Amino acid sequence: MRILSIETSCDETAVSVLDCDGPLEKASFTVLGNALFSQADLHAPYGGVYPALAKREHQGNLVPLTRKALSDASLLSQEARLVDSAVLAGMREEAFRTETKNFLESYATPKIDLVAVTKGPGLEPALWTGINFAEALGKTWNTPVFGIDHMEGHIVSGLLEEIIQEKKFSISNFRFPLLALLISGGHTELVLMKEWFVYENIGRTKDDAVGEAFDKVARLLELPYPGGPKIEEAAARSRERVADAGGELDIRFPRPLLNDGSYDFSFSGLKTAVLYKLRAMDEISERDKEEIAHAFEDAARDVLVEKTSRAVQDLKPGAVVVGGGVSANREIRQALENMLRTASSETKLLLPPTVLTGDNAIMIGAAAYLRFLAGKKGDANLSALGNVRLEESNA
Ligand code: KG4
Ligand code: ZN
Repeated sequence: MRILSIETSCDETAVSVLDCDGPLEKASFTVLGNALFSQADLHAPYGGVYPALAKREHQGNLVPLTRKALSDASLLSQEARLVDSAVLAGMREEAFRTETKNFLESYATPKIDLVAVTKGPGLEPALWTGINFAEALGKTWNTPVFGIDHMEGHIVSGLLEEIIQEKKFSISNFRFPLLALLISGGHTELVLMKEWFVYENIGRTKDDAVGEAFDKVARLLELPYPGGPKIEEAAARSRERVADAGGELDIRFPRPLLNDGSYDFSFSGLKTAVLYKLRAMDEISERDKEEIAHAFEDAARDVLVEKTSRAVQDLKPGAVVVGGGVSANREIRQALENMLRTASSETKLLLPPTVLTGDNAIMIGAAAYLRFLAGKKGDANLSALGNVRLEESNA
C-alpha cells in the first residue's frame, strides 16, 4: 500500500510517500519520498512558534514539498487536466488555492492508495492548512483520506526500527502493554497502551510541557528557539568540565512532584527556579549559563525518569516507547536506558530513530497504515482538533 502523508501541526511542513507492507506486528515502511521544511529559524525571532506565520508558511510549502516527495518517489508524470473547483472549497486563501489547483492540473493521478494528514493536536490554523490540502488531493485522486493523531504518530516513530538509514523502517518486536512516554513542545504524558490504539492516560503535566520548559529556559539564557538542542549543547560543555574536574555541579534545581505518588509532571516551577537563580546573579558568564543549562537538564531528566520508572514497576509493561521532540535528548535517552537496565530486565526501551524524533510525515504515514490494518476507513469530514487527547481520538 502506498501512502502520501502530510504533517503541518506546528512549525514543520512535511510530506512523505511510503510503501507499506506486512501485518500490524511486522509492518515495514520504505520511504519513497520525504520532503521536510523546518520553519524554526523563521520563528526564532519570536522566541516560539507564531501561528499566523506557521499557517502562511505551510501554505507556501505544501505544493513544492508534495511535488518533491512524489518526484523522488518517481510518481509524477505530467498530464494536463481539469480540476473541479469544488475540490478546493476548503481553501479560503486565493494564492494557496490557485497553486494547489495548478499543481493538481499539471500531473496525472499518482499511484497513491491513501492520503494521511495530521488532524491534531497542534495549532488549528496550521492543522487546517494540511487538512484542506489533503482533502483536495484525496478528492482529485479519488483516494481515501485518514486524519491521524499527531501524538499517535510520535508513538509510532518510537516503535520504528531503522533498517536502512532514513529509507526503511519496520515495527520493533515488543509485547503489550506498552508504556508511552510522550515528551514534546506541547505534551508531557505517560500513556498505557493495552493493545493497538487503546490508550489510557495515566499521567500528564499540570502546566508546561517539558519541551516548552526547555524552550523557555533557553530564552532566559538568551539561547535561540528551539531551545532543546541548544540547552543540550550548553549542558554538555558543563558536563564535560565537571567530569574532568571529578567534582559535582554546585547548582541544583527542584524536581517538582518527584515524590507525590502520581504519574503527573510539573515544569513551570522548575522554569521559575531558573529565573530566580538568574535574578540573584550579578553577572552571568557563558560558563554560568552552561551550568544552569546542565542543572536544568538534570532536574528535567530526573523527573521524567523517576515517573517512568515508577510506572514500569507498577504496570510491568513489555516496553517503554518514547516519542516527541525531546526524545532527541541524549541525556534523557541514556538515563532511561540506565533505569530500565537496573529496574527491570523484562521491559524493553524503544526510542525513535534520530530522524524521526522531531515532527515528520513518515510517522503520520506509518500510523495511517497501522490504522488501516486495524480496520480504519476514510474520514469524510475532517476537522482540525487543536487540543484532542489521544484517548479520545479514535479511528
Ligand atoms: O515533537 P516536536 O518536534 O514538536 C511538538 O509536537 O511539540 O517537539 C519539539 C520540542 C521543542 O520544545 C524542542 O525544544 C524540543 O522538542 N527538543 C529538545 C531536543 N530537541 C528538540 N528538547 C531537549 N533536547 C533536545 N535535544
Ligand atoms: Zn510533535
